Amino acid sequence: VEETYIMIKPDGVQRGLVGEIISRFEKKGFKLTGLKLFECPKELAEEHYKDLQSKSFFPNLISYITSGPVVCMAWEGVGVVESARKLIGATNPLNAMPGTIRGDLAVQTGRNVVHGSDSPENGIREIALWFKEGELCKWAPTIDPWLNEIN
Ligand code: GTP
Ligand code: MG
Repeated sequence: VEETYIMIKPDGVQRGLVGEIISRFEKKGFKLTGLKLFECPKELAEEHYKDLQSKSFFPNLISYITSGPVVCMAWEGVGVVESARKLIGATNPLNAMPGTIRGDLAVQTGRNVVHGSDSPENGIREIALWFKEGELCKWAPTIDPWLNEIN
């Protein structure tokens, strides 16, 4: 099954949006397999966003992500990577559709409250980067048959 790394960025934590954001993924029906509040070291932020190293906004992005605690999450489910990106909405919150997290809760690209992996490969890479072995729970929600016809 597919997995994705979702992270509530420091602005989401500071603004008291943690419950609201987790709730959207829970209500959708995906399975939470990892969750922690974490102060991200600079080196980890740089590794996570290494593909954006050459961008002019990179230093600002790193100081943003390391400016306060983040909430790290791993979510599992069929099609979870693409679906989570849709729930999150466009990178620029002004272009994000109402009903999405960024569309409802943010106004600026540099303060867009949440991260989601952009491919199944990056989902695996990022979960391995942010979580240690033993921090992830492989559990079987009892509601599963009400969410998925085939288990
Ligand atoms: P993530 O889920 O955080 O990876 O966002 P994304 O996949 O929608 O966008 P992308 O990976 O291209 O950029 C990563 C993050 O860098 C964005 O979410 C923004 O926080 C930040 N970012 C991207 N473009 C800009 C920009 O033009 N200016 C600023 N200040 N930040 C940017
Ligand atoms: Mg991205």
